[in-house]
Amino acid sequence: MKNIRPLYWKNHKAYIMNQLLLPDKVVFNPATNHIQVAKAIKDMVIRGAPAIGIIAAFGMALASKEKKFKTVDELLTYVKKAGDHLVKSRPTAVNLFWAVQRMMNRLVQFSIDSEEFGNEQKQIKFVQDKIEKEALNVWEEDVEMNRKISKFGASLIEKNSKIITHCNAGALATGGIGTALGVITEAHKQGKVQMVYADETRPYLQGARLTAWELKQMHVPVTLITDNMAGYIMNTENVRAIIVGADRITKNGDTANKIGTYSLAILARFHNIPFYVAAPTSTIDLNKKTGKEIPIEERSSEEVTTIAKKRMAPKNVLARHPAFDVTPAELIKSIITEKGVFTYPYNF
Ligand code: MRU
Repeated sequence: MKNIRPLYWKNHKAYIMNQLLLPDKVVFNPATNHIQVAKAIKDMVIRGAPAIGIIAAFGMALASKEKKFKTVDELLTYVKKAGDHLVKSRPTAVNLFWAVQRMMNRLVQFSIDSEEFGNEQKQIKFVQDKIEKEALNVWEEDVEMNRKISKFGASLIEKNSKIITHCNAGALATGGIGTALGVITEAHKQGKVQMVYADETRPYLQGARLTAWELKQMHVPVTLITDNMAGYIMNTENVRAIIVGADRITKNGDTANKIGTYSLAILARFHNIPFYVAAPTSTIDLNKKTGKEIPIEERSSEEVTTIAKKRMAPKNVLARHPAFDVTPAELIKSIITEKGVFTYPYNF
């Protein structure tokens, strides 16, 4: 399948691929209002930090047309409330907050710009058109950021590399070709990739369901491993790089990413394998000094006690599902962004 994408925008509506159905089915469902968008984010129908940001921006655009507004101020108040609702859908990926804040800032500017039209309905139409265009800009900019990240990242990969990746930081998680997987597919185009080991990524199986699927679609050699095999593979397979995405990077370079990333980084340090994070600058949260300040999503423990809805553990056993962990900056050799490659100690 060419053109893997988590969403598209057509006739003023968002269409979201239901990633819960992958790898068996590719199904896009329309989202016509911000409530549906927030639910799709919460239920992980769409996931991955940049993709969540993009769909939230479209959620704001949808909100601007959900009602017949009498004034621009009324529209503004309504869309702001929609933004407040959207940001409650998931707590860790900063791109969600970044996108909603950007859309709100632009909305305020558009409402000021609209004043020259005099007529209230014309002003409203102006603001609605502009805000839709802004959501498209958020998407297009992500495509471009992915492209740049991939080029910068691929230059760090040695010939004939075996690479480990975790979770899914590919086209399904972004607007374009992906971050970590963008680097890998670009390096593969350059003939540098011998094998990609994709961690299955318990409990949500993004590695098995999404990354393995995506890499197969791209004809990149991929071997699926369970998360607890990573140390063995590092020890026996001459792995040359570990590349992952990010959900939030703090000022000092601490990086929140899918649960299991931290363990992988420690294993990488022991085996002297460079550990890279690939992410757009929209994932960097300069308001947070260290990873200790990042809110970590705690999801239902049922996602741990069951696999594909089948219970695997004793009834009522205590279980936990922190969905992310934080990798300390000192374990990360470089952070690859669209602005270039930053190396520890980080100063963005
Ligand atoms: O829970 P998810 O699937 O949204 O978690 C996604 C990840 O942790 C990704 O690795 C991260 O968002 C980077 S996506 C380019």
